[in-house]
Amino acid sequence: MCGIVGYIGTKKACPILINGLIRLEYRGYDSAGISTIEKDGISVMKDKGRVKNLYNLKGIDDLEGSIGIAHTRWATHGKPSKENAHPHLDNSRTFSVVHNGIIENYNELKKFLSDNGYKFLSQTDTEIIPNLVHYYYSKDKKDSSSASIDKKDSSLSSTDKEDSSLKKGDCLRFLRAVKRACDDLKGSFAIEILCKDYPDNMIVVRKDSPLVIGKGDGENYIASDIPAILSFTKNFYFLNDLEFAVLSRDDIKFYDDNLQLIEKATKSIDWDASSSEKNGFDDFMLKEIYEQPNSIRETIGAKFSEDSDCEFDELNFSKDYLKGLDKIFIVACGTAMHAGLTGKNAFEKLCKIPTEVDVASEFRYRSPLVDDKSLCIFISQSGETADTIAALKLCKEKGAKTLAISNVIGSSITREADYSIYTHAGPEIAVASTKAYTSQVVLIVILAIYFAEILGLSSAEIVNLKRDILELPKKIEETLKCSEQVKEFAKRVYQEKDIFFLGRGVDEVVAKEGSLKLKEISYIHSESYPAGELKHGPIALIENGVTVVGIMTVPELVKKTVSNLQEVITRGAKTLVITNQDIDKSMFDMVIEIPNTNTFVSPVLSIIPLQLFSYYIAKEKGLDVDKPRNLAKSVTVE
Ligand code: AGP
Ligand code: GLU
Repeated sequence: MCGIVGYIGTKKACPILINGLIRLEYRGYDSAGISTIEKDGISVMKDKGRVKNLYNLKGIDDLEGSIGIAHTRWATHGKPSKENAHPHLDNSRTFSVVHNGIIENYNELKKFLSDNGYKFLSQTDTEIIPNLVHYYYSKDKKDSSSASIDKKDSSLSSTDKEDSSLKKGDCLRFLRAVKRACDDLKGSFAIEILCKDYPDNMIVVRKDSPLVIGKGDGENYIASDIPAILSFTKNFYFLNDLEFAVLSRDDIKFYDDNLQLIEKATKSIDWDASSSEKNGFDDFMLKEIYEQPNSIRETIGAKFSEDSDCEFDELNFSKDYLKGLDKIFIVACGTAMHAGLTGKNAFEKLCKIPTEVDVASEFRYRSPLVDDKSLCIFISQSGETADTIAALKLCKEKGAKTLAISNVIGSSITREADYSIYTHAGPEIAVASTKAYTSQVVLIVILAIYFAEILGLSSAEIVNLKRDILELPKKIEETLKCSEQVKEFAKRVYQEKDIFFLGRGVDEVVAKEGSLKLKEISYIHSESYPAGELKHGPIALIENGVTVVGIMTVPELVKKTVSNLQEVITRGAKTLVITNQDIDKSMFDMVIEIPNTNTFVSPVLSIIPLQLFSYYIAKEKGLDVDKPRNLAKSVTVE
């Protein structure tokens, strides 16, 4: 879940690397470090804490190297500390490595290396990587020098197959050692590696962890995520699992798992570099909340107009295929899973296809009844969430068609899935997802309309829904005007210990998302419940002064939710209500009125006051809104 950056060019690498790390800090922030190749060999500087601490390290300004790697860590193995921070060196200081992911068999490999005389300075799984590369590197050297004596003992020397594509002048030994080390690794990794013997090359490889390569002019960049290097290039290469890239200043060579040269084309990413800047906002989260009118406009794009059917250039589902479906499965984690729950409502009501929504980390282990009559949809803002990707692979194995909904073009999930559609929300930097969620909700509802139209189920309801979707950007602008009112309520309750969220129907899904947002960034304990379920137990927790948030946008359910809120008011609760319905406001402590819209997409509007509510509470508490404790933006471990 960490952030990785790399640079090879003609400029000083250090400032570029630190700048990239700062932009990636949302991916992990317990320690950071950089490694460059200097005149006198490999330099490593690292420390515990935030990336900015690197500026205080003695000698950091003296680094001259124009090739380097960098890391901001989200610890999995070994506590956050200077010695566990990346980069890690091998014992001979020949190799320097940064790693994102988990090496599952590191204990076994550590023992093997210890038995071969290697010493370890950290508790990380990562430290075995540079040492293992060193082991194969020196073994290869020994093997090639004895090859003329005994040609048979050549298991670790170059094979004829490799030699045909690895020409003289390529860093053959370096690459071969990295490949052989990777063959031994179990688990997930994105690795950048420097070798002091090849000061003009860097090797990168990935398996189940994200990594992109940015192509510049006489320089090349590496990053875990596109935004970190968007100000340097718009042209990116994406590596598949176990593909290797050997970077030099003017060139990048790609190799497959057999070290055969392969061709790759760049993909151009049209995100605006300023979209990964704060642009005058105090925090990325607030900026991203305010970007929602525009991100929703981008999500809708040209997929339909009031009088035209929905079109997805990327999809070609036939009526027969959709008619033959037994079930749709939607699988995702966290906020993306909440967006999936709004999709269930749309697929079942508009397309009459039974739909199940699963948390990805549970899905695989419940032996889901997926087969070729299932369509499996995976939602992931980052497109890199390990649990979601693993669930997708399982569904493919079971013969289902898979469709990914992601915000990141070229992300792992989109490369695994049979079909991919994009939310086009622009880069989301804050750990707490806001604009990606609303874009996911809109996109999945448009997808349901698209299916319904193919199935011949168009109706007046769908015509109205399409009009309502087109009006959403304007209505989000109106909704955002509630900011001051929400802030005032946040100031009243920011010291609370527990806050409850209630809703019925689609409002219960919003209650879930509102509660998650609050937990994530304010650290206030919070629960969400279907409003009618409260009296079956949780109401025992309601006592004088407890805050309860009620969401009411479903006309036929409003009266019932009002009654449930009345029950908590009777027991002394303070209430904040989000509604677009005509209700008696006098009984509640505060009512936020939002524009009316179709219930299929009302979560897009009703979540906005709740995003602001969490934001202002966290600000009142003086917390780091964009980088909440213990969390990382992209969860690339299972
Ligand atoms: C949202 O605020 C959270 N950071 C988290 O629940 C997130 O939605 C989840 O980890 C899934 O991420 P993804 O969309 O990148 O797959
Ligand atoms: N497993 C490695 C460690 O704990 C890498 C973690 C990360 O991805 O930041 O250091």
